[in-house]
Amino acid sequence: MGIENQQKNKDHYEGLYKEEQVKNILHWIHNLDAFLNSATTTETSWFAIYKNNFRDRLAGKKVLEMGCGDCTNAAVMAALGADVYANDIADSSGRIIQVLNEQYKFQHPIKFIPGDFIENNLEGNKFDYVIGKAFLHHLEIPLEEKFLAETARLLKADGEARFFEPAVNFKLLDEVRWYIPVGNRPSKFQRKKFRKWKKYDPHPDRSFSSKHFETVGRKFFEEVKIYPVGTLERFSRMYKWGKKQNRFKRWALKTEQKIPSGLNRILSRSQLIVCRQPLTKSVYQEENGNK
Ligand SMILES: C[S@@+](CC[C@H](N)C(=O)[O-])C[C@H]1O[C@@H](n2cnc3c(N)ncnc32)[C@H](O)[C@@H]1O
Repeated sequence: MGIENQQKNKDHYEGLYKEEQVKNILHWIHNLDAFLNSATTTETSWFAIYKNNFRDRLAGKKVLEMGCGDCTNAAVMAALGADVYANDIADSSGRIIQVLNEQYKFQHPIKFIPGDFIENNLEGNKFDYVIGKAFLHHLEIPLEEKFLAETARLLKADGEARFFEPAVNFKLLDEVRWYIPVGNRPSKFQRKKFRKWKKYDPHPDRSFSSKHFETVGRKFFEEVKIYPVGTLERFSRMYKWGKKQNRFKRWALKTEQKIPSGLNRILSRSQLIVCRQPLTKSVYQEENGNK
């Protein structure tokens, strides 16, 4: 079952990342401040991953990005002076990194780790940050645990993991969502079409609740903190793409942080999960029943 989901992800994403995308990425890293000022105030994943001044904490740090996708974030972190290692199940991500390294003088060229990351040979206790942007929710739960165990092994004792993921804390609200068609996803009312779409969808059926991420995170880390994102921002879909929509997103991402935390968590669309103080293997094996 796990392999089938991984193969689905590889098939889905392999063809999506193209070397032509390098031109855009180069433009963004040549205009880094303008890019980050815009992305971190209007795009939920960038807003979350760069929360709490992450941008200013990267220079000289050793960072691993899991599920690096089209490599925009890996390139941005490297352009900010980080020593970036990146992995994705899609080999096309590696080809993008190769071209980026040829065309931009990073202080530390980006290192791509191809294939099954769980089999990596990286030395433990060496990374300042491990990042996953819209990544963990693509894994079935047993594989997610393996990635989190690797995260804990690779991080320094004072290191930090940051994951941006969808949040489903209000089942009814989520169920309604499936009946509204979005992009190429048909409504659940169109049963045949929906079943056909689901067959190729790279997201496994699993929990995306904050409680789940807290529970699994605490198996491998002393500290797990959840930041809800998107409670108001989700309404930006009512606007057409453009300046008005961006203005709304900026307002929403700022304003929703003032919503009482319990309510914000229930209504949020996404979440930033920050894990600190990794447990050593012997400690988490003892705490979680030797496995
Ligand atoms: C939604 S995309 C996010 C990409 C990128 N982080 C971003 O923010 O645009 C999820 C990524 O996870 C990768 N992925 C899925 N399963 C994986 C696995 N088992 N190992 C490594 N990468 C995986 C996919 O190939 C895809 O690039």
